[in-house]
Amino acid sequence: MTYKVAVIKGDGIGPEVVDEALKVLEVIGEKYNHKFEYKFLLAGGCAMDEKGTPLPEETLEECKKSDAVLLGAVGGPKWDDPTAKQRPEQALLGLRGGLGLYCNLRPALLYAPLRAASPLKDEVIGDGIDFSVVRELTGGIYFGDRGRFEENNEQYAYDTEKYSVTEIRRIVKTAFDIAVKRNKILTSVDKANILESSRLWRAVVEEVAKDYPEVKVNHMYVDNAAMQIVRNPRQFDVIVTSNMFGDILSDEASMITGSIGMLPSASIGENNRGMYEPIHGSAPDIAGMGLANPLATILSAAMMLKFSFNLQEEAEAIEKAVLRVLEAGYRTGDIFSEGMKKVGTKEMGSLVIGELSSVKVPC
Ligand code: IPM
Ligand code: MG
Repeated sequence: MTYKVAVIKGDGIGPEVVDEALKVLEVIGEKYNHKFEYKFLLAGGCAMDEKGTPLPEETLEECKKSDAVLLGAVGGPKWDDPTAKQRPEQALLGLRGGLGLYCNLRPALLYAPLRAASPLKDEVIGDGIDFSVVRELTGGIYFGDRGRFEENNEQYAYDTEKYSVTEIRRIVKTAFDIAVKRNKILTSVDKANILESSRLWRAVVEEVAKDYPEVKVNHMYVDNAAMQIVRNPRQFDVIVTSNMFGDILSDEASMITGSIGMLPSASIGENNRGMYEPIHGSAPDIAGMGLANPLATILSAAMMLKFSFNLQEEAEAIEKAVLRVLEAGYRTGDIFSEGMKKVGTKEMGSLVIGELSSVKVPC
């Protein structure tokens, strides 16, 4: 079978980490007899430089024609002028909105060999951290009405948090479906003591919950959730929340696992369409130096196989290979600790491929 993948390498370390993920996909293709057809596209700062816009029309159109999108990272100090009309991040919002990717899945998983890299105390980590943040991605304050105006000689700016029942129901149902396949605990995070949109959110969660009697549901205010994630992360299985709360909490969740350089993410829409990217940014300070950790992008490619192409076994082969490389003590700078073997981006990619090559494919 041939899968069409739109590849957006992006800015900073994006190209380096994506290249390693593509090498891994090639090995998967050979081993399991799949063909991946790539279309390389521009988005972000590099697209602003070359095409004068962060998301050229061609990029969005080609992504729509593809089965999935694999993205490195966008942004960097070169384009970081807060007064500028165009910003690289607009490419992400344009892709999310344009492709209808309403569900952002960010697993917070502590890899056992990286335990020491977590900033949390051993007794807090206990037997491990493994939960998933399900973030609404095409609504809320990110897409609501915003603007500036003047009143009584004073400048004002505003942004609007707005959600429809349909938008909430869609993401909440997805989160329940994910919880059913995991440990069946769903925490819905909101600010219902203040926000009207949160009160609606809560009501919809309650309504959808009736269809999932096997899932234990609880509601948590976002400030409390931020605290609970570092106080007792083991209480969580699946967290579902709005676009902005999810943005904030997923960064916190990734941090406690030891390295943001390890975590993949999936943004999924109708018909399994998806965009897959590492959680980390473009890390301009180490761009082009061969130091970046490619594992988050490699694991994002694994998520692509799992969610968009339904290739479970292939995805698990990648995940296992990554775990074995970590168990063998190899580390990029971001996850390095005393006594481990320090490697660069390319070496890390090759190590994963080495492990993959030893996986036996059942005939
Ligand atoms: C993320 C990022 C983006 C977001 C930015 C870069 C627009 O922080 O993917 O979490 O806020 O969604
Ligand atoms: Mg973010």
